[in-house]
Amino acid sequence: MRRAEGILALAILALSLPAAAADPIPPHGSSAAERDFIARHWGGAIPPQGPAPERFSPIERSLQPEACGACHPVQFGDWQTSLHSKSMGPGITGQLVEMARREPAAARSCSRCHAPIAEQRATLYEAGRPIPNPDFDPALQARGIICASCHVRGHEHFGPPRRDGSTTNRAPRTQLPHGGVTRTSAFLRAEFCASCHQFGRDGLALNGTPLENTFEEGKKSPAARRGLQCQNCHMPDRRHLWRGIHDRDMVRSGLAITLRADKARYRAGDLLRATLVIATPGVGHAFPTYVTPQVRVRAELVDADNQSVARIQPGGRFTLTYARHLMTPGLRLRVTVTVLPDEFYTRFFDALLIAGAGEGEAEIREALEATRRSPYTLYAKELPLT
Ligand code: HEC
Ligand code: HEC
Ligand code: HEC
Ligand code: HEC
Ligand code: HEC
Repeated sequence: MRRAEGILALAILALSLPAAAADPIPPHGSSAAERDFIARHWGGAIPPQGPAPERFSPIERSLQPEACGACHPVQFGDWQTSLHSKSMGPGITGQLVEMARREPAAARSCSRCHAPIAEQRATLYEAGRPIPNPDFDPALQARGIICASCHVRGHEHFGPPRRDGSTTNRAPRTQLPHGGVTRTSAFLRAEFCASCHQFGRDGLALNGTPLENTFEEGKKSPAARRGLQCQNCHMPDRRHLWRGIHDRDMVRSGLAITLRADKARYRAGDLLRATLVIATPGVGHAFPTYVTPQVRVRAELVDADNQSVARIQPGGRFTLTYARHLMTPGLRLRVTVTVLPDEFYTRFFDALLIAGAGEGEAEIREALEATRRSPYTLYAKELPLT
């Protein structure tokens, strides 16, 4: 019981998030014009789209991802497999039912990152007073971070420069679908992602470091010195997949793991010294960047030894030294690295169910089961020793 309480206290801490927009984001190789755009695009709650231009057909007015997908099938197909399309999953909605009743301000703060478009909110605020939102669409709310979250404001479409770098439209805007596109290089900047992937200085922190600190970590990383932005690694070739810690291949692509024993051959009675090194040359921040996943290393011989890897700071490495006397011949050393992408959430949802999740219970149970399915073996190697 005490253990569950401890976890719950941490969880509540983790959920009392800042309601207001984060502090101004420091430069990261971006221009003043790009930073201005990002401040307008992501600063504060996104206002309702308002009426669409008269000439827009129903499909051009629609904020549904399927409507965009009719003309942009590649991005739609990618997005559907991404976690951005699942950001209003049962782990969030299951908490929101009770939270909306008990802590409405906290519940509202979640939407800024998990379903940020005004049409996804039941209530709007005018001079601090709540008013029911006539355009609220609960089905759209369930779709999470939709195309329009990043690309549409007041029915105007925004996007990156064309691949050749040009920013002009090919024809007069009135002749193009959805009135053409306002193109800006701000879409290529790390700051574009920071409004949701970096807590501000007023946000939740542990020893002065925000719990979600990806953008700041990124600035200190070797990748940033090479000029790499989040998009270079998470949207290669402009794909909309956003693979991260939940994807084994993505994680492997960022790491260099080596296992070495001090000798080529051993005899019974010898001392084995083996070293496992995990370096992170292809990760643009700490590994993992969030405090919610866990990485475990296990080295086993006759007996087993389990160890959890502390977060590896940008450009840093983890070293495990394993030393044992080999008492019998014919042994092998087996080393495995396991990733638990949702380790914190497994404990949190478990504790929430013990404390009582109220009307959200079925959804929290579903979310808990999903966190139990996400662990995978990142690395496994056996060294023959004799
Ligand atoms: C009826 C078809 C159609 C629909 C529906 C549509 N688009 Fe487009 N979109 C286009 C075309 C055609 C272009 C290329 C315009 C140009 O060349 O300037 C385009 C360009 C874009 C671009 C610029 C990227 C590029 O290819 O150069 C973005 C971003 C974009 N659309 C987003 C969206 C979003 C988000 C939605 C849904 C809210 C949407 N579109 C709905 C047809 C459509
Ligand atoms: C500043 C942006 C931000 C805010 C505000 C925010 N989140 Fe999140 N949330 C994230 C990001 C980014 C992730 C993914 C990283 C991770 O797994 O920790 C996430 C992940 C989660 C997850 C785990 C993934 C899942 O779908 O189950 C839950 C649960 C969650 N948030 C709940 C909440 C709740 C409840 C609130 C409001 C009290 C909230 N979040 C507010 C950014 C935010
Ligand atoms: C989280 C923000 C985000 C979401 C959600 C999102 N996009 Fe994008 N989109 C971007 C960014 C950033 C770029 C530019 C990436 C780059 O150049 O590296 C981009 C680029 C594009 C382009 C230009 C592609 C090209 O080849 O030039 C199109 C078209 C587009 N998005 C459509 C969509 C559609 C349709 C959806 C929904 C199915 C969607 N986007 C969802 C952020 C987003
Ligand atoms: C509107 C807020 C928002 C914006 C903007 C945004 N994200 Fe996210 N992102 C989230 C949330 C919330 C999640 C977690 C969704 C979940 O699991 O429920 C997430 C998940 C992810 C993940 C998957 C993490 C994992 O656990 O595997 C990656 C990678 C990612 N985002 C990268 C980006 C990049 C790169 C950009 C900028 C182009 C970006 N995001 C922009 C809110 C946002
Ligand atoms: C040099 C490439 C690179 C850059 C730049 C980069 N990332 Fe990552 N990112 C990775 C790799 C590889 C992983 C998988 C390993 C991991 O989880 O750290 C990852 C994982 C993630 C995750 C999964 C959650 C977690 O706890 O690790 C999120 C969210 C994320 N990145 C967001 C971002 C954002 C936002 C930026 C820009 C501020 C960014 N990344 C910049 C390579 C990069």
